[in-house]
Amino acid sequence: MDRRELGAGTRVVRAARSLPPGQGQPVVPPLVQSVAFDYGSAAEQDAVFGGERPGYVYGRYGTPTTAALESAMAELDGVEAATCFVTGMAAIAAVAQEDCYGQTRALFERWTRERSADVVFLDTTDHKAVEAALRTKPTTLLYAEAIANPLLRVNDVAALARLAHENGASLAVDATFATPVLFRPAALGATMVIHSLTKYVNGHGDVMGGSVGGSTELGRAMRDRTILDGAYLPPHEAWLAIRGMRTLALRVRRQCESALVVARHLAKHPKVARVRYPGLEDHPQHEVATRQFGGLYGGVVSFVLRDDTKPAAFRFLDALELAASATTIGDLFTEVLYPPISSHRRLPAEERKRLGITDGFLRISVGIEDPDDILADIDRALDRV
Ligand SMILES: Cc1ncc(COP(=O)(O)O)c(C=O)c1O
Repeated sequence: MDRRELGAGTRVVRAARSLPPGQGQPVVPPLVQSVAFDYGSAAEQDAVFGGERPGYVYGRYGTPTTAALESAMAELDGVEAATCFVTGMAAIAAVAQEDCYGQTRALFERWTRERSADVVFLDTTDHKAVEAALRTKPTTLLYAEAIANPLLRVNDVAALARLAHENGASLAVDATFATPVLFRPAALGATMVIHSLTKYVNGHGDVMGGSVGGSTELGRAMRDRTILDGAYLPPHEAWLAIRGMRTLALRVRRQCESALVVARHLAKHPKVARVRYPGLEDHPQHEVATRQFGGLYGGVVSFVLRDDTKPAAFRFLDALELAASATTIGDLFTEVLYPPISSHRRLPAEERKRLGITDGFLRISVGIEDPDDILADIDRALDRV
């Protein structure tokens, strides 16, 4: 380049492209909000593109900040590699159990129509049914939620992994509700571990994201997806998720303790017909949950109003003062969801009822507020029902 001084228009776009050099490691990873990466030599860039040398080339191929979150997720899940996606839904690519997150089911149903995927929905806590389905025809993937949304059935991951592997299938576990604090599905034989980072991992209600963890080979396949499908988690979201993740264990332990208090309280309440919480002794998979999760049972409680109607559910939601009536889980604050109008809205009413999601069904994601305040809010709302 000739030595004359660069014009102001050129200087402003070339200046401040990197941090000034200096000693001292930051204790928080830098947010590298750059889409592209410049190389001094074309040969070096070629080697990075070719995967012969580690590095970054373009936002969809990997960015340093998202890679920091990916390393963290791999470590938390105890797997070789994790890949982050823009949402939990973008991370989900498999076959579903029957009572899973409503949109997951809708996605698989769409695949049966658009991609001729052969998908069977079944209750994955019924191992005889799972075995029969796996033996009926060659199956690529068995997919299950560790704690299923919103019925809170608990899957025995070690047993499902055995059944899947004996029949030549992989096992994918959506561990969003359990979080890496309760258990590590890969240690029990799961081939893939999925999280919606939007929920507990970030925990502050201000980021969407998802991750898929597993072998190095799976990591390579997932990276190919982020490159071609374009659903890679951008760095700013990754940076926020790393910040949220720091308090994951503290938050989840507190939320589990408070959820047990809420579940026991609801179980005694005259306006409540049924409570579903894996920590209650009458939960069908209480023993599995105790063994698998080491004494924690998750931060979500579902229950059915004795007045099992939509107007009663609406009165409950409208009377809440502390809890948000909101469509998510795993945040710092308590949130209540009414699945028939939200996550399970697409499901025909008959099918919803068959699953147990009746008109008075509500789901509480317990936050980190003082438990007495959460109970007072619930009682106030139940008084209005
Ligand atoms: C169990 C479970 N998995 C995955 C998802 C999807 O995650 P996201 O909303 O980040 O796409 C949800 C969303 O509620 C969920 O409950």
